[in-house]
Amino acid sequence: MAIDLNVENVSKTFGDFTAVREVSFAVEKGRFFSILGPSGCGKTTLLRMIAGFIEPTVGRIMIRGKDMAGFPPNRRPVNLIFQHLALFPMMNVAQNIAFGLQRRRETRAEIDRKVDDILARVGLPGFGGKRIDQLSGGQKQRVAIARCLVLDPAVLLLDEPLGALDLKLREQMKVELKKLQAEVGTTFIYITHDQSEALVMSDHVAVMNGGRFEQVDTPRNLYARPQTPFVARFVGENNGWKGVVADRQDGLCTLRTDDDQLFSAATHDDLPPGTPVIFFIRPEAIIIAPDAGLENFNRMTAVIQSILFDGANSRMLAMPEAGATELMIALPQNRQYDHLKVGDRVAIGWSARSAVCFKDR
Ligand SMILES: Nc1ncnc2c1ncn2[C@@H]1O[C@H](COP(=O)(O)OP(=O)(O)O)[C@@H](O)[C@H]1O
Ligand SMILES: [Mg+2]
Repeated sequence: MAIDLNVENVSKTFGDFTAVREVSFAVEKGRFFSILGPSGCGKTTLLRMIAGFIEPTVGRIMIRGKDMAGFPPNRRPVNLIFQHLALFPMMNVAQNIAFGLQRRRETRAEIDRKVDDILARVGLPGFGGKRIDQLSGGQKQRVAIARCLVLDPAVLLLDEPLGALDLKLREQMKVELKKLQAEVGTTFIYITHDQSEALVMSDHVAVMNGGRFEQVDTPRNLYARPQTPFVARFVGENNGWKGVVADRQDGLCTLRTDDDQLFSAATHDDLPPGTPVIFFIRPEAIIIAPDAGLENFNRMTAVIQSILFDGANSRMLAMPEAGATELMIALPQNRQYDHLKVGDRVAIGWSARSAVCFKDR
């Protein structure tokens, strides 16, 4: 498979501050690759290095096998879309899209053909004559993307492009962007602090924290098999404890939490008794009123503290009677628990296999 982008051991320092630290990754042609991390973790700095607005302090960036060192932005086969789309308000849609082609001195006939073609591909056929202020937020987004795609870049870089949209439109654009990318087949590098955007749209996601990549993986693996405590917390919701390994037998550990509960957990790492650990249980892994007789199962009684109704995403917060750590528990969607209310005592539990456990450094 052809590699469109290769980032090799790239770091960027500003004075004595390191914004991007030893980042390496490769993106295959046609992939939707996201970089996910909290604000200030270095995402934009990394993207600006790929685009050529700043040079890495250390490391190498290759696009389609060619070292980009010393190439200015306009000589790299990439385009960058910002949160503020920067469409030209005095020009109509076709003029906006034609702008880059005109600077390349392509012929009028060629430009017209390409503009019509790209408008059809982004689902806006016949929109060429519209003014920018006649478009909805989602349509402006597609025009901004069309304006880049018409230049046929190897890689399209998107810096939180949905950040300025309201929630409903953002949800809709997530689906549209994914479809659009699959259709045009251009490699997308998409940065966001929104884990749902990254999970829904991407083939692969890099989780970034403090300038470093913590894990690069498929959305499914990031969620099911986080490699670090940061990823376990940042991707999806999680319940977490600190504790220590109290005992270990046949691949099962007994963990004693800081609030003095004992849980059994299946762990892969070599975690001998006495090891400080941090471990996590997903809200949907906690079962309400579990069947009796489940093996390697943690059971307890908890008191409901609040019900967070949110349609299909409804959850509740409950405090185990023997603990001091409130649990986030997903409410199953078949409405069988609609009667639950604050103050109720419920039996809950989870399989030892659903814990994800790390050595606490
Ligand atoms: N030109 C610069 N000079 C000094 N510090 C910078 C510069 N650009 C970015 N930074 C710092 O680098 C860190 C990462 O910034 P940025 O890449 O914009 O993060 P993100 O896009 O993930 O929010 C921030 O602490 C920011 O203040
Ligand atoms: Mg940024």
